[in-house]
Amino acid sequence: MISEKDIAGMEPFEKKVWLSSPTMHGEELEYVTKAYKTNWMSTVGENINEIEKNVAAYVGCRYAVALSAGTAALHLAIRLAGEKLYGLPRTNEGTLRGHRVFCSDMTFDATVNPIAYENGEAVFIDTERDTWNMDPAALEKAFELYPDVRLIDIAHLYGTPGKIDEIRQIARAHHALIIEDAAESFGATYKGQETGSFGDCNAISFNGNKIITGSAGGMFLTDSKEDADRIRKWSTQSREDAPWYQHEEMGYNYRMSNVIAGVVRGQLPHLEEHIAQKRAIYERYREGFADLPVTMNPYDAENSVPNFWLSCLLIDRSAMCRQVRGEQEPLYLAEHGKSCPTEILDAISSINAEGRPIWKPMHLQPMYRMNPFITARGNGRAQSNAYIDEGRAVDVGADIFQRGLCLPSDNKMEPWQQDRIIEIVHRCFA
Ligand SMILES: Cc1ncc(COP(=O)(O)O)c(C=O)c1O
Repeated sequence: MISEKDIAGMEPFEKKVWLSSPTMHGEELEYVTKAYKTNWMSTVGENINEIEKNVAAYVGCRYAVALSAGTAALHLAIRLAGEKLYGLPRTNEGTLRGHRVFCSDMTFDATVNPIAYENGEAVFIDTERDTWNMDPAALEKAFELYPDVRLIDIAHLYGTPGKIDEIRQIARAHHALIIEDAAESFGATYKGQETGSFGDCNAISFNGNKIITGSAGGMFLTDSKEDADRIRKWSTQSREDAPWYQHEEMGYNYRMSNVIAGVVRGQLPHLEEHIAQKRAIYERYREGFADLPVTMNPYDAENSVPNFWLSCLLIDRSAMCRQVRGEQEPLYLAEHGKSCPTEILDAISSINAEGRPIWKPMHLQPMYRMNPFITARGNGRAQSNAYIDEGRAVDVGADIFQRGLCLPSDNKMEPWQQDRIIEIVHRCFA
């Protein structure tokens, strides 16, 4: 539904403006072609070796293992952490075996699912307002409730580093390991250090929508040679050093192809350029929306430099029109001077551009609804309609999901296109 506001008259873009699409430069094709011509068309080859060396050097980790996806990197990272904490499983068991893991709540489900793959239970930790990442105060509270937990799985949402020092300090105090999901934040820094280097095991993604891409792919990052060797072995079906296929432990087909690695190799020199383009988009939105009752996704400018992967909006509570969301469909009532994410996303879509709701928090997802959820205020799990208490949100993630949205953030978007998007958002508040 498009509201009655002056939106319908706006001219759609002939070519769609995407949320975040691949941006190729030419070198990718050269590396892919070379792989083809020299017949290195499998999961070994120069492209893989080069990107492992170069990404490790860039991030500041000693070792990198190129894998088929960021999800694969997270899965093996969590499997390895489980093994370190709880010992070797029998081959058909997950390494977590019922143990709980504290996990970011407002993230993509790939952060969380590997915990279930390994038969663990995710305990979702609510979000703070300064960076939209795991709230250290809620994490502290979670340790009071579940003092036995030894693993924390954190993501940096939309390329914005979270409160890393606080989280690491809490982890240290409770002898917990950290899995760092830097899938969205490759190239973002915290106190001058790259994200993807803070955890005991770290993962990045080269999915097609990420800051740079291989069309797919991901990487496991670590300072431990032993861990890197183990992940490499697991990712190639855990073959033992024997003349025949000999298997002593569970294996996976998770290694990156040398063709995909060629695309990543061609993209790597353009990482900084992509970040600069995304940053310019973020700044332009911020200026363009200065007169509206909205704020941009926040970051800690003193301590961190995001990669600005996605630009997002948060509507002031006083400027929200009524909006309800079922499991599949949203509804809203248009109101003068106010708007809501659904109205704005409809308006953006009407001009052939792509926005997206904020990632729906994991504790609100049907498949994870029964998992524990810890908030900094209140008594843990908030009811779906009761997350506002005395004007303050108890369930911060649900509040940001309700009032926030991701804007078209494609680095090929031109200023005139962005101006039109800024204009249509203004019309939503008319
Ligand atoms: C936070 C987060 N973690 C993990 C992933 C998974 O990466 P991949 O798609 O490469 O498996 C993604 C994105 O896709 C993500 O956004």
